[in-house]
Amino acid sequence: MDILFCTSEAYPLIKTGGLADVCGSLPQALSAPGNDVRIILPAYPEVLEHATGLTSLARLTLIGATEPVEILAGHFNDSNVGLYLVNSPVHFRRPGNPYVQEDGSDWPDNAERFALFARAVVALALGQADTGWRPQVVHCNDWQTGLVPALLSQHEVRPATLFSIHNLAFQGLFPVETFTALKLPESLWSIDGLEFHGKLSFIKGGIACADQVTTVSPTYAQEICTSTFGCGLEGLLQYRSASLTGILNGMDCKTWNPATDRFIERTYNIHNLQHKLANKLALQRDHGLPRGGQPLLLGYIGRLVEQKGVDLILVMLEQLFRHPIQLVVLGSGDRALEKRFEDAAHRYPDRLSVHIGYNEQLAHRIQAGADCLLMPSRYEPCGLSQMYSLAYGTVPITHRTGGLADTIVNLDKTTASDYSATGFSFDDATPEAIVDTCVRALSYFQASRINWWKLVITGMKKDYSWPASAAQYLELYRDMCGLKDSTPENQGLHASSPGLILLNTERQETHIH
Ligand code: ADP
Ligand code: GLC
Repeated sequence: MDILFCTSEAYPLIKTGGLADVCGSLPQALSAPGNDVRIILPAYPEVLEHATGLTSLARLTLIGATEPVEILAGHFNDSNVGLYLVNSPVHFRRPGNPYVQEDGSDWPDNAERFALFARAVVALALGQADTGWRPQVVHCNDWQTGLVPALLSQHEVRPATLFSIHNLAFQGLFPVETFTALKLPESLWSIDGLEFHGKLSFIKGGIACADQVTTVSPTYAQEICTSTFGCGLEGLLQYRSASLTGILNGMDCKTWNPATDRFIERTYNIHNLQHKLANKLALQRDHGLPRGGQPLLLGYIGRLVEQKGVDLILVMLEQLFRHPIQLVVLGSGDRALEKRFEDAAHRYPDRLSVHIGYNEQLAHRIQAGADCLLMPSRYEPCGLSQMYSLAYGTVPITHRTGGLADTIVNLDKTTASDYSATGFSFDDATPEAIVDTCVRALSYFQASRINWWKLVITGMKKDYSWPASAAQYLELYRDMCGLKDSTPENQGLHASSPGLILLNTERQETHIH
């Protein structure tokens, strides 16, 4: 199949969180013989710095750009996956984070930036960029790409579209005036289109207009159809439920493998787990914590935002540190939460080490060195850190929600005795539940190291690699294109298939240029 994978970040070119991990590794997992997968990204400075062998492919005249927008082409991460970059310096060549400026506030022209990106994707998807390649499927991810299915839905002859929700709370909401300023087709301003309580919603473009909608775990797929997790879109998601699938994210087992990890103190696997202790001692040494195997060393890696429940950790530090527990925190996000963590680190210098910022190497070293990884997220669409921690023999302590519920087996009497447990979970995201669960983990850790190592090994043996999940995406792509089975003769284009791509010049003119 020919698949255009459309995203605002992809590791290792540009990353702010799990979206990049997924959008860097899923396309490579999809790229089996017979599948031509190409990623399209904005040409941020970091991406231009890391991508090699780029050539200029086309120049497109797009609404929203005063000058033609260049499409650069190359290969993604030395793989078979193709790479397209949308190079519009005025929109994308600026320092720092793709979405926010130095002070943490959104770039004021985000709507223009990602509308332009969407229009470039649409041009490519419809064959207007003269690449000689026309995808059967356009796979979009999160609100930054939400206008792609909406704009493509205006074309009778177009590729099939799939929209993946990685986090429903980020919706790309803008005032109605932006809708007009972006010169979007009038027909899209409706409750079935981009309008959301009088505002322009980018994510609605994906949810309402894509042929299929997915999200990143089966439990989150159910949760977002409820008012608790639906962020106001639960009605639309219920309406689309026949076309909504939860597919669990996979993990990149090359990048996250303790046996080969070049960032960590000492590599290890299930046969030489004693080397994991060297990583714990190194983490304690590097972060000024008293060294030793006895205290339970907890790690937290992630955005410091309300979603992740980190404020719940902050209010229970005193109770937590009554026990032989240490904590290393790596993250950035909400400025107030960052400050509270930094202040707390001063109060508990021999218990708590806090690193504000983004640090890939330290993330690996915490995964390797900690005994447990704390993820008390209020909601978690999938979560990748807990999968990495399983692979690193670092026992997850998690709130039972979304993908955390789908990946972690809580230790209780039954799962302890049949050795199916992989972590410690709690049902309510409250400070008390976090303390209780950490203390439960500590007791298990102290009671018997043999049982602890058994718990660790069960987690390390879990397979959360991509093949099973990538196969589910491929099945959806085939369904969307009317290719019910994968025999070679059925992989071509069918005249009646929605995957058939032909140019519809009149509509292109109207909606893209
Ligand atoms: P989310 O995408 O909601 O932030 P995930 O668990 O899906 O959460 O993915 C988070 C990813 O981002 C992981 O790869 C994690 O290691 C990484 N990460 C988060 N914060 C940091 C940080 N401060 N430094 C390095 N890596 C980080
Ligand atoms: C989002 C979610 C996270 C998920 C990631 C990748 O950032 O918050 O749970 O793992 O996307 O899908």
